[in-house]
Amino acid sequence: MAYYQNPLDATTLPAWQALSEHRDAMQNFTLRQAFAEDSQRFSEFSMTSSSLFLDYSKNLISRETRTLLVNLARECGLEQAIRALFDGELVNSSEGRPALHTALRRPVSERLAVNGVNVMPEVHRVLNQMTELVGRIHSGMWRGYSEKPITDIVNIGIGGSFLGPQLVSEALLPFAQKGVSCHYLANIDGSEFHELVGKLRAETTLFIVSSKTFGTLETLKNAQAARAWYLAQGGSEESLHRHFIAVSSNREAAQAFGIRAENIFPMWDWVGGRYSLWSAIGLPIALAIGMSNFKELLSGAYSMDQHFQSAPFERNMPVILGMLGVWYGNFWGAQSHAILPYDHYLRNITKHLQQLDMESNGKSVRHDGSAVGTDTGPVIWGGVGCNGQHAYHQLLHQGTQLIPADFIVPVVSYNPVADHHQWLYANCLSQSQALMLGKTRSEAEAELRAKGLLEDEVQRLAPHKVIPGNRPSNTLVLERVSPRRLGALVAMYEHKVFVQSVIWGINAFDQWGVELGKEMGKNVYQRMTSWDPEPAEDASTQGLIDYFRGRHRG
Ligand code: F6P
Repeated sequence: MAYYQNPLDATTLPAWQALSEHRDAMQNFTLRQAFAEDSQRFSEFSMTSSSLFLDYSKNLISRETRTLLVNLARECGLEQAIRALFDGELVNSSEGRPALHTALRRPVSERLAVNGVNVMPEVHRVLNQMTELVGRIHSGMWRGYSEKPITDIVNIGIGGSFLGPQLVSEALLPFAQKGVSCHYLANIDGSEFHELVGKLRAETTLFIVSSKTFGTLETLKNAQAARAWYLAQGGSEESLHRHFIAVSSNREAAQAFGIRAENIFPMWDWVGGRYSLWSAIGLPIALAIGMSNFKELLSGAYSMDQHFQSAPFERNMPVILGMLGVWYGNFWGAQSHAILPYDHYLRNITKHLQQLDMESNGKSVRHDGSAVGTDTGPVIWGGVGCNGQHAYHQLLHQGTQLIPADFIVPVVSYNPVADHHQWLYANCLSQSQALMLGKTRSEAEAELRAKGLLEDEVQRLAPHKVIPGNRPSNTLVLERVSPRRLGALVAMYEHKVFVQSVIWGINAFDQWGVELGKEMGKNVYQRMTSWDPEPAEDASTQGLIDYFRGRHRG
């Protein structure tokens, strides 16, 4: 039976037991000593794939650790699971669906059947539909109601219908097509809407209503507000189709909103929202950087897909990073993982990876409905460096938690300013170095004495200057962000998340946990906006409703 039909309990496997014993044996492992004893450590624990260079030598591992982690991956059936993922098996077991985001970047020649039908021709038909639209917008052929070309694109969407496109279109600003600006409207906060439309002219704006379900409250409310704004600005009903298109798997709802059939770009239920930037959800990306660059993005992801399917696990980037996360989460008690891009263009990657990782692996029930026997998805957090050094790196260096970190840094800048890039790169490396080496008590004392402090001051201050060190990190280096490299990077994280879901026996592709809050929101809204004799289920919610009603009385 497939892994998703009869998930193993990894904690019962010999490899898990071996790792547990190995963890005890690693109690006194230090990275200082590991590097001192092994001059080959950097080359041994680094690799290149799809033009990404990974240095994972600053991890709390030995060659034996890597072997044991790979053994666990094998005993959990990861090889079969990877095959099942790419072959379109029903890996999204609770919804009975495949998860085929990898099909979106596959050559049309590589046949892939879903329910007996080869989906590749349709995938590439949609790519052609995107190409045609992008061409008409960029050439100025697509005109608004006042016969002016489109200058501004507004993507109305949230979650996976927003974060991936925003990450990629803003990471690839150096590839932006002149004359078209991309904006994102996601939240149901009137201030976001107000601040955005203040920059726009309805006659030259195209709204893309991006919603797989076409049923997401925030998106529908924003789409309605955008339509009202368009009409109030002088747009006409009969020209609405020139200013509103949609990306959705729910054609009926999109047409009911007023989107013309030919302006609806399809999505499929076998692509999850957080995995959908490669689909027509990526229209804002294509409009921002052009279709040829969008296809380069797809090619980069495809290259990583090939690596993930073929590289031996010891040399497999998503497997190595995924298993390191299992090592720290399940054997070292790590509860979170920091993503630290030292690149202004990658500033939004943490937000996308939060949804990708936490909405995929934030689960506590396995495929078969049984409770998990281990910790699962970590909290993903972080932000752009060097800014984080002046915000939260204190906790990384001297806090009480073990927080593994991924540093991501380009080796070349698109915008050289004096020696800024040298300092940016130097800071990235020195932060991971400081996490690893730390500063001992004797080093702290010697430093204070060298400054001429009296011994009682030395003894008073020294404990505060000790840096524990021995804190793990990975460093991903790329030449500089490009469509191809970014495609590979995002795909690498998609597969890392999948690897971990297989080890934990959980479904990475559903998200039942978000439904309850949405349902309760409707009840709270009703109580806030109309009289309801029944009090809310709890006094806190009712008290807060009363507070709102009191302020908005009359
Ligand atoms: O948060 C739940 C969720 O369904 C995400 O998985 C999804 O990316 C987002 O809401 C938006 O969904 P839709 O694209 O259907 O509007």
